[in-house]
Amino acid sequence: MKIGIAGTGRMGAAIALRLIEVGHELTVWNRTPEKTKGPAAAGAKVAATPAALVDGVEVIITMLTDDKSIAELYHGPQGLLSGNAKGKLFIEMSTVRPEVERALGEKIRQKGGSLIDCPVGGTVEPARAGKLFGFVGGSDADVARVRQVLEQMCRRVEHVGPLGAGASMKLAINLPLMVYWQAFGEALALVAPLKLDPDRLISIFSETSGGPNVLKARGAAAAAAMRGKDSGPVTFDIGLACKDLRLMIAEAKSLGTDAPVSQSALKSFEEAVREGLGDADGASLPARWMKRVNIK
Ligand SMILES: NC(=O)c1ccc[n+]([C@@H]2O[C@H](COP(=O)([O-])OP(=O)(O)OC[C@H]3O[C@@H](n4cnc5c(N)ncnc54)[C@H](OP(=O)(O)O)[C@@H]3O)[C@@H](O)[C@H]2O)c1
Repeated sequence: MKIGIAGTGRMGAAIALRLIEVGHELTVWNRTPEKTKGPAAAGAKVAATPAALVDGVEVIITMLTDDKSIAELYHGPQGLLSGNAKGKLFIEMSTVRPEVERALGEKIRQKGGSLIDCPVGGTVEPARAGKLFGFVGGSDADVARVRQVLEQMCRRVEHVGPLGAGASMKLAINLPLMVYWQAFGEALALVAPLKLDPDRLISIFSETSGGPNVLKARGAAAAAAMRGKDSGPVTFDIGLACKDLRLMIAEAKSLGTDAPVSQSALKSFEEAVREGLGDADGASLPARWMKRVNIK
């Protein structure tokens, strides 16, 4: 299939490499051209503009930071929707609020195209290996058109409702994860005086109800951060964690409820950003909290 990807950041580039590997004809576009080099070296064409990307493909995937980047990329001069969107299917994979996907879907429909949302669980490595968890929103017919592509990107595809439903599910999944990194830091502070080896601590937490799945995937990075060592390539940065928490809090408010635990976690993460850690990996958050303890 001829597939276009706009937004070859960490996740978009990994997805592009995966789709090339399974035999699709890829065209990519990224605001910072440098980041198209990886996919181009693996055989992707590079489009001159977002509009040109849409003209040359059947399916367009976007994987962007937030709602502002979606607005600029779709509606800006030479944006995706100034291309020929008629009959094209867009797959929007960024983590944003459901209302953003629904509003975008309406604009795409006016241009004769259609949209499904498929934000994902899993980070760069699962994206590269086609092992993401896709939370899909959209019509049955639209999802059926690209189910094969979704299954090539994801180990599990869950079609959870109409357009925007994937975004709701993704925010829900990420909420306990974001809060966990803060809770884990607070837990580590309690045992900091024991001076246990970080790998041992991760192993103990992983095998008890003190540890969720994420410790299996990111525990080694968290342990490296506890040692004050480099925790490896950044997969999900603290700036994005703040963005996600803000979306969850706003979404809860729009549903007439509150998210007090998320608000506390956000306060702590924003403090990390003010300390200059916005680009650091989320797995370094617990170490930051643990280091506050005064050990005699
Ligand atoms: N990293 C993860 O583990 C992970 C996991 C699941 C979901 N997500 C979600 O996936 C999305 C992408 O995350 P990522 O880690 O791949 O982030 P990233 O590496 O920072 O990539 C962000 C992408 O958005 C583009 N972008 C930002 N503002 C733009 C604008 N105004 N116009 C056009 N393009 C713009 C960037 O282009 P430039 O290169 O020009 O800046 C880049 O291609 C986010 O919504 C994130 O929450 C991430």
